[in-house]
Amino acid sequence: MKVLVVGSGGREHAICMSVAKSSKVEKIYCAPGNAGIGQIAECVPIGAMEFDKLVSFAKEKEIDFTIVGMDDPLVGGIVDVFEAEGLKVFGPRKNAAILEGSKAFSKDLMKKYNIPTAGYENFTDPQKALEYIETAKMPIVLKADGLALGKGVLICNTKEEAIEGVATIMQDKKFGDAGNTMVIEEFMTGREVSVLSFVDGKTIQIMSSAQDHKRAGDGDTGLNTGGMGTFSPSPFYTKEVDEFCKKYIYQATVDAMAAEGREFKGVIFFGLMLTEDGPKVLEYNARFGDPEAQVVLPRMKNDIIDVMEACVDGTLDQIQLEFEDNAAVCVVLASDGYPVSYEKGFEISGFDKFDNENYFCFHAGTALNEAGKIVTNGGRVLGVTAKGTDLKDARAKAYAATDWISFKNKYMRHDIGKAIDEA
Ligand code: AMP
Ligand code: GLY
Repeated sequence: MKVLVVGSGGREHAICMSVAKSSKVEKIYCAPGNAGIGQIAECVPIGAMEFDKLVSFAKEKEIDFTIVGMDDPLVGGIVDVFEAEGLKVFGPRKNAAILEGSKAFSKDLMKKYNIPTAGYENFTDPQKALEYIETAKMPIVLKADGLALGKGVLICNTKEEAIEGVATIMQDKKFGDAGNTMVIEEFMTGREVSVLSFVDGKTIQIMSSAQDHKRAGDGDTGLNTGGMGTFSPSPFYTKEVDEFCKKYIYQATVDAMAAEGREFKGVIFFGLMLTEDGPKVLEYNARFGDPEAQVVLPRMKNDIIDVMEACVDGTLDQIQLEFEDNAAVCVVLASDGYPVSYEKGFEISGFDKFDNENYFCFHAGTALNEAGKIVTNGGRVLGVTAKGTDLKDARAKAYAATDWISFKNKYMRHDIGKAIDEA
């Protein structure tokens, strides 16, 4: 079969790598892809938001199955556009992708269906938000309702910061229309865990857990980024946590969406916080995490096409999801200066030792230059993943593998997976 993957990051490279392992697949296209994806798929220069062009391409090439990796096209309704043309596509429709696309929607859903999350209020009027802040307990969390590249969340320690935050989100519109509505949420403390799942509208199957490192600097300092590294599984995701989440969060979310007439098919990514009062949902995403996919998918034993087709066909109950009994760590190699400003265009070397069995080099911001060399082309450049017998082994191997790669201004965190030592 012929598969089209939509997206261009490390997550899409990990998806393409899994798709390439499927015995059912003879050809992979990726739009727009990147230099690494180009080694296993044919990259086509169509943007992820160019739905009409993507549909025409899929028809022309007789694509059997399309996989959408990114949030923007999902929230924008790409799945509805493909389905209307009779094309088979993996991902939630627009009315279900709202689970990620609107934080106000997802908070209201959780409240209505008693799914554990932080207390909150939604605001469309900045004056009302300011009045609320007057008597609220600090710290407090302000969230732009819509998609904001993972940056629309402000944690405010004082009333002054919160007042400034309301101006940033709702008045200065730093995150654009995403800030037309704002959620003000109670501040929670605890460890964060990312749990990805496959969903077919009724049935949900949980993948192995992971943990991201969102801040740019060692010791969780510096600005928020798209993610500087991950490990899987999380040792803090215990059997008790799993049981609690199965009872109160996972199926409850799928059932709530179905009850609202918003049947969810695709990947639900649960951002959880393990608080003193038990696990609570921080956020939902309607897709694989990046760089969570880079540690979860290499450990999945199933043929990814079988699982994804079962999600679309509503037969996920017949699939037994299986993960290797090992661990993986991904260290992101970024351009120095990310996430603020950085230079691009530097040649990258050292790819030959990655065997795509135990060591993976997932490309994110890379491109081919005119001379056909692979060069840096973004903030997050590569995700170096290694598998090991356990987390410590995987971490040692991943960091050893980061040394194989050279490019000018290479930057990484040195403490990815440090939390493992406390487990
Ligand atoms: P989100 O995009 O909603 O996942 O938020 C981004 C990050 O902000 C999360 O990964 C948390 O580290 C932090 N965060 C979000 N909501 C809260 C909260 N209610 N309490 C504490 N931290 C939060
Ligand atoms: N790693 C966090 C995300 O993909 O949203």
